[in-house]
Amino acid sequence: MRGNRLRGIIVAMDMRQSPVVVNTPLGENSFFLEMRCALSPAPVPGQFVELAIDPCLFLRRPFSVSSYRRGTLGILYRVVGRGTHLLSQKKKGDILGVLGPLGRGFPSFPAASRVWLVAGGTGIAPLLFLLSRRKAASGDTTLFYGALTDRALFRKVLPAGNYRKVFSTDDGSCGEKCRITSLVRRHLEQERPDVLCASGPFEMMKEVACLADACGLPCYVSLENRMGCGMGLCFGCVAKVKTDTGWDYERVCTEGPVFPAERVVWEDEDSAR
Ligand SMILES: Cc1cc2nc3c(=O)[nH]c(=O)nc-3n(C[C@H](O)[C@H](O)[C@H](O)COP(=O)(O)OP(=O)(O)OC[C@H]3O[C@@H](n4cnc5c(N)ncnc54)[C@H](O)[C@@H]3O)c2cc1C
Ligand code: FES
Repeated sequence: MRGNRLRGIIVAMDMRQSPVVVNTPLGENSFFLEMRCALSPAPVPGQFVELAIDPCLFLRRPFSVSSYRRGTLGILYRVVGRGTHLLSQKKKGDILGVLGPLGRGFPSFPAASRVWLVAGGTGIAPLLFLLSRRKAASGDTTLFYGALTDRALFRKVLPAGNYRKVFSTDDGSCGEKCRITSLVRRHLEQERPDVLCASGPFEMMKEVACLADACGLPCYVSLENRMGCGMGLCFGCVAKVKTDTGWDYERVCTEGPVFPAERVVWEDEDSAR
């Protein structure tokens, strides 16, 4: 009964029927999918959309906006389960239901500010959009991007431009053989950005938050808690955040997914949810 009510509310939201333009395999079970979809208001970097992939799935699936230009929305995704597997089967002209843009994205940074973006694996997804916006504003931007192997570094989807790129892989097949956070730490010994933004595995973001805190730098992180409704109704996505009186839960889909890193209670991944 409650499930039916929730389904009714979810279906009533303004879902855009969006034809797939291209669904390009990137290797490592990952894809870049573009669809025709006029979002209103236009998304800002860090926001996400909910995709109705197939009628057999009760819940839509959340994906960060990786690109948005002239009514074409791009997402980068990795196949991890049934929904993303069905998504990987989509062909040009297939229709996806799109709800969004949702959530709160990154703040807009002054064009002249030095911004360091730190991405781990498919965590690059929301930062691609931020990178293309920074490039358009000619900002001073550095991308730190780490993955397990060269094949898992999706360099061909990085926006063109002369921003600085620093790569690392766990096996040394591209960039330095280390965790990307080691390179962030090393660069912080020599230079300082005005702000850091991180997206990727929980432990990576936790370490970036810790480095930023030690240097007194502002830092924003993009959380990817599992979601139910995606629009603030079910409280299935909450994360622990600090408040004036201690801590409380906030909804990642509504108050996030981007949070100031110093607000997040950085416990281990499971207890933070
Ligand atoms: C705000 C937000 C933005 C996201 N952006 C992207 C993106 O740009 N690209 C992308 O590839 N994925 C993104 N995700 C994760 C993506 O939504 C899930 O991978 C997807 O919903 C899994 O659906 P599924 O049916 O394939 O897997 P399911 O069958 O639902 O789950 C399979 C397994 O995937 C893992 N999983 C599922 N959901 C999540 C999650 N939210 N976080 C971590 N692990 C999960 C779990 O280990 C689970 O056991 C985002 C999630 C959130 C909350
Ligand atoms: S997913 Fe339902 S409240 Fe966030």
